[in-house]
Amino acid sequence: MTSRWWAPARVNLIGEHIDYCGGRVLPMPIQFGTTVTASRHDGRRIVATSRNQSAAVEFAIGTRPSLPAGHWGWYVVGAVAVLQSIVDVDGLQFDVEGDIPASGLSSSASLSTALLAAGADALGVELSGLDLALAAQRIEHDHVGVACGLMDQAVIASGVRGAAYLFDCRTLSGRSIALPADMPSIWVIDSGKPRALVNSAYNNRRRETTAAAAALGCAKDRLADASVDEVDRLPGVLRKRARHVIGEQRRVADALAAIDGHDWIRFGALLIDSHRSLRDDFEVSCEELDCLVELLVASPGCLGARMTGAGFGGAVVALMENGANPVSLDGYRAVSGRIARAFEVRSFGGVQRRHG
Ligand code: GLA
Repeated sequence: MTSRWWAPARVNLIGEHIDYCGGRVLPMPIQFGTTVTASRHDGRRIVATSRNQSAAVEFAIGTRPSLPAGHWGWYVVGAVAVLQSIVDVDGLQFDVEGDIPASGLSSSASLSTALLAAGADALGVELSGLDLALAAQRIEHDHVGVACGLMDQAVIASGVRGAAYLFDCRTLSGRSIALPADMPSIWVIDSGKPRALVNSAYNNRRRETTAAAAALGCAKDRLADASVDEVDRLPGVLRKRARHVIGEQRRVADALAAIDGHDWIRFGALLIDSHRSLRDDFEVSCEELDCLVELLVASPGCLGARMTGAGFGGAVVALMENGANPVSLDGYRAVSGRIARAFEVRSFGGVQRRHG
């Protein structure tokens, strides 16, 4: 049996670096993504090809291929291991194709989710949205070495067309937030800066927030429960990290109220505040992202902008009045020597079967 599934990438509108602290986050699935075709065979082998990568990945079931760290084949290894924990896998062929144009849009969660959805379907296994998200997160934790939260996998597994996805990382429950027709356009601007050392820096931030939660007596992964006043008790760096988490948690609530009230100026201002906090307190931005945000915010029709995703390179999300374009990109080239590329993004919904 052959199964073909598409999983989107995502842009996080607001709620950054709080999914592993029990916060609420507001990502949106976008029109770019990964398509995986999976077919079952009984050769006791796994074969994966990708139109975006030259070499195929191949290994016998029960063995591990020798691949360098960071190789896309680890997602295949992880997906097979997760599927094997649910059902006997006799042999699978995966064909992968992606069109995600920038980093910082969670291409890895898109790939993991598409591999799992197609693989499970080919093997006759049904997974709920949450199970699929948790399975995709296990690939990152156990096979890629990134201690990520569940935001990306949750929106990719359960997002709905035309909507953002409010995911509560404390209860692991989510709901769609329909984006009103009068909402300004959402743009992603790729900084062209590869995300250097992002995995180790990410895991380090996770350790710091865990330490801050422990120092304040919060439960593990629940720093978002702390209050602003308590944060002052923390020493230097931990105080800054916690201040970001608590402020960002509040900004998500304010952003929901802004969407509800169609208050786009307020929504844009919250994006700008979020960026400032990620830059100064959480320290996950970089010169390129700061420069892009500054240029965008000064450009006509831009209501707000901020880095999106893990940071240290990658992309910026901007709220632009309808009909306006991010015009300041030439200025970015002059300052950074890099070429930025802008894409208007829309939500086509979460993971879905593709026919043909
Ligand atoms: C990455 C992780 C997510 C989340 C973001 C930052 O995308 O995969 O779990 O922590 O960074 O908000």
